[in-house]
Amino acid sequence: MPVSLESIAALAKNRGFVFQSSEIYGGIRSAYDYGPLGVELLKNVKDEWWRAMVQERDDVVGLDSAILQARQVWRASGHEAVFTDPLVECRNCNQRFRVDKLEDANTCPNCGATNSFTEARAFNLMFRTHTGPVEDDDNLVYLRPETAQGIFINFDNVRRTARLKLPFGVAQVGKSFRNEITPGQFVFRTREFEQMEMEYFCRPQDAPAQFEYWVKTRHEWYLGLGMSSENLRIRPHDADELSHYSASTVDIEYAFPWGWDELEGIANRTDFDLRQHSEASGVDLRYFDQEANERFYPYVIEPAAGATRTTFAFLIDSYHEEEVRGEKRVVLSLHPRLAPYKVAILPLSKKAELIEPAERLATELRRHFMLEVDLTQSIGRRYRRQDEIGTPFCVTVDFETLEDQAVTIRHRDSMEQDRVAMSGVYEFLAKRL
Ligand code: GAP
Repeated sequence: MPVSLESIAALAKNRGFVFQSSEIYGGIRSAYDYGPLGVELLKNVKDEWWRAMVQERDDVVGLDSAILQARQVWRASGHEAVFTDPLVECRNCNQRFRVDKLEDANTCPNCGATNSFTEARAFNLMFRTHTGPVEDDDNLVYLRPETAQGIFINFDNVRRTARLKLPFGVAQVGKSFRNEITPGQFVFRTREFEQMEMEYFCRPQDAPAQFEYWVKTRHEWYLGLGMSSENLRIRPHDADELSHYSASTVDIEYAFPWGWDELEGIANRTDFDLRQHSEASGVDLRYFDQEANERFYPYVIEPAAGATRTTFAFLIDSYHEEEVRGEKRVVLSLHPRLAPYKVAILPLSKKAELIEPAERLATELRRHFMLEVDLTQSIGRRYRRQDEIGTPFCVTVDFETLEDQAVTIRHRDSMEQDRVAMSGVYEFLAKRL
């Protein structure tokens, strides 16, 4: 049965994955805080992306650019003029909506009034703030709405210092901000979120093949981390959906509880951004091909994913409810590399003679994995809790351990158990994580 948004939100809150931001003051709808487990899951998603996109490749390097950039960046990129959503206001209840997200263009989804909408106007999604003490137009800056521009404006710095030759990519993970008119669906659409973006620079004639390659590669990344293939699809954008910089875009979509929606976009941004920044800054950002003795603007293929949105999709995809011996079992069958804790160590009793070897094992394993030692409640309840937070292995230290120096390792998904020598636990886990 498909999981409901309410079940995911409840688990996320009760187990410490995601909390409403500013909750003690009633909360704000558009921002969320990641709790002790959420921060691990989010970090693991970002680390897996980085591993696949940077570490395991010899043609991609990383960057961490500033959130505050010169206003000219967003003028040249086109965001100041056209990074907008069409907004209407209901004259009856004064609520504002995105026209393109309204189910019925004549009826207000809040108060039900008909034909009450104002004319649509373009609403710019960038958050504005000021640098320094004077709040005037000269000091206006935007919080970045995408990480990508930080890569384009550093194109030459990165190419030169990392001695890169085409084709090559520059990857970045970080916060972005959009003053979304209708944030919602839990962490799916928020005003502050994290992106994982890579700009892959290539010769213009190679762009179509690179585009195909990156669509396939990114699709496989989700599958490789255990996301169900039936919950993923690839959808090309219609011409009227394309962003102002894109010649073609394909979305990787996920079957969210409310229907198919975007997880990641892969765009052919052509030479739009490098050309714009060259013209606006006066700095020549063309690439010089020594062999051909020619200078040209590379094309860019951009796989742009949301880190927070992807984390949410992994939570949904891994959530299962099943019945075991007449009892409901909730399991997050997260890929072991994504699981917040890789292992839980559970002494069967609180007696010092069991706690001591459990702590000894924990000290050894902590150097390699995030783990939890749990002493509370019955062993059955402790297993259930670990299942619910996606811990792939539970190690039980029991009275026999004192005799045979071995422990029981329980597998989350099959619930099967293995007896393993304490000295071999690290190797056992390392092979499976
Ligand atoms: N640089 C291209 C770019 O930013 P995008 O499709 O607007 O493209 C890329 O954003 C990804 O960032 C989206 O596929 C989504 O996963 C994530 N994203 C965008 N807006 C978001 C929001 N308001 N909340 C959460 N994630 C968002």
